[in-house]
Amino acid sequence: MKYKRILLKLSGEALMGKKQFGIDNEILMQYAEEIKNISKLDVEIGVVVGGGNIFRGVQAERGGMDRTQGDYMGMLATMINSMALQAALESIGLYTRLQSSIEMKEIAEPFIKRRAVRHLEKGRIVIFGAGTGNPFFTTDSAASLRAIEIDADVILKGTRVDGIYSEDPELNPAAEKYNKLTFKEVFNKEIKVMDMTAFTLCKENNVPIIVFNMNEPGNLKKVVLGDEVGTLVEM
Ligand code: GTP
Repeated sequence: MKYKRILLKLSGEALMGKKQFGIDNEILMQYAEEIKNISKLDVEIGVVVGGGNIFRGVQAERGGMDRTQGDYMGMLATMINSMALQAALESIGLYTRLQSSIEMKEIAEPFIKRRAVRHLEKGRIVIFGAGTGNPFFTTDSAASLRAIEIDADVILKGTRVDGIYSEDPELNPAAEKYNKLTFKEVFNKEIKVMDMTAFTLCKENNVPIIVFNMNEPGNLKKVVLGDEVGTLVEM
């Protein structure tokens, strides 16, 4: 096993599956099974889920809403996804804890780094909800921040494409896939792996990022075992 403690970032949009909105239960259970398969390897797992399947602050701003208001709504959307994931994981026998960056003590523990680490050490899967708790930050930034705080070995960014390409492979089928990139290359090529805030946090704190296809069964386990899946970004 290559990584002992990981931070898995799941896209909210991916949770929609084939639906136009909300959560596709099949995808949710598929993700839960993938996570179960790696938890058997005794890897410590933190998870951050996006909220784009329910609400996006940036888009709300385009529609005329105040960005701060929109972003807080987006953070609540991540809590809905986090609770769904928690329920899915528990339904297949896993131990979990949900921590929220915005206090909502009836449904989640507050985010406390020391508690999060204790949960991880006890083999509990810790889901970090409500982003960073601040507007103007993405859930990728939340993933980077939490990864640094819990001292994760790597950020695994699960997407629906199998890595980083020279161009959007959905728009240009001739786009080239990269197996490995340095932080500097990502920066110079202006590749949008994550937004700059998230990316810079990883770079400055030397946390590698692996972008991989989460929808491909078995992929998450391969990544954790150190197989060359997706694209690795490191120093
Ligand atoms: P250990 O001390 O390591 O055994 O952790 P623990 O999480 O089992 O201990 P604790 O007794 O603190 O928590 C028991 C349960 O209560 C867990 O399911 C926690 O997620 C939950 N819990 C703890 N604090 C809060 C809170 O502020 N809000 C909510 N909703 N649940 C909480």
